[in-house]
Amino acid sequence: MTSPFPQTFPRTRLRRLRTSPWIRSLTAETGLTPSDLIWSMVVHDGDEARIPVGSMPDLYRLNIEEAAKAARRARELSIPAIALFPHINPARKDATGSEALNPDGLIPTVIRAMKDAAPEVGIICDVALDPFTSHGHDGLIDEDGYVLNDETSKLLVKQAIVQAEAGADVVAPSDMMDGRIGAVRDALESAGHVNTMILSYAAKYASGFYGPYRDAIGSATALKGDKKTYQQNPANSDEALREVAMDIAEGADMVMVKPGLPYLDIVRRVSETFAVPTIVFQVSGEYAQIKAAGERGWIDGDKVMMETLLSFKRAGAAGIITYFAEDAAKALGA
Ligand code: PBG
Repeated sequence: MTSPFPQTFPRTRLRRLRTSPWIRSLTAETGLTPSDLIWSMVVHDGDEARIPVGSMPDLYRLNIEEAAKAARRARELSIPAIALFPHINPARKDATGSEALNPDGLIPTVIRAMKDAAPEVGIICDVALDPFTSHGHDGLIDEDGYVLNDETSKLLVKQAIVQAEAGADVVAPSDMMDGRIGAVRDALESAGHVNTMILSYAAKYASGFYGPYRDAIGSATALKGDKKTYQQNPANSDEALREVAMDIAEGADMVMVKPGLPYLDIVRRVSETFAVPTIVFQVSGEYAQIKAAGERGWIDGDKVMMETLLSFKRAGAAGIITYFAEDAAKALGA
């Protein structure tokens, strides 16, 4: 069999194309720009401007005013969108996560403040109950602690409508219930929000990499048990394609693979199989690893940050949700 890449040395010296920056840049197969980035941002409902998150160095929970300022910074840096995650005062949490449906709650208030400050920046909202429930699960639980699918779905629909009414451009269900994409789409259409997009956390794995996030939004201590009865088994790849196919059929405009780096094979399969924008989430534990090793001087943190972001593009991602968005956009010279 003849190889499609005949290599006869020295006629073929692959290193020729690596000799200087201009030729390396000319022959680059993929690239990263600020327009690939979605800024993952944690907001809180207290007065303090910025509260550090212990397990995520340089990440702060922002109050409403700071979040509005951050939206202006996103615009200056050409970051197209912000993904919002709330830290809710424990006093406002209950078993059904009712604060999620409050039209004057933290997230709707932040959306309005950001849209006043920088209307051109897209706002993506997480649809799930875990920041709001006293037990830390993404949905309603029965007496055995099992997360109820259809009952949860009804609440998620209401939560998504509250976000859309407040001005969210994209609602992003991250709860992994079955059938909720179709239910959310129907409700958005009936309420006249025909252009509100759905980004489905379609292939979301039951991962240890979410640890620091649960710390950031304050659900870590509350969570009893794990999320294995609704999030995907890390052993599975075909199942991710079934999840994505189902969510597209139900009306998802974009789909997500999460976490990022340990699941690049899934990003590749999903982006190749479906003609739909594939978003990847570089989650809190990935951020924490890079930051922690960087702080110790064990790796060059900035270099590794850019390398991981580029690798998502190489794997086929259309966009990347990341806590590094601001730093990366600055490094890209935006
Ligand atoms: C939950 C949700 C999680 C994240 C986003 N939405 C965590 C979980 O499923 O427990 C994780 C984000 C991160 O780790 O950065 N609805």
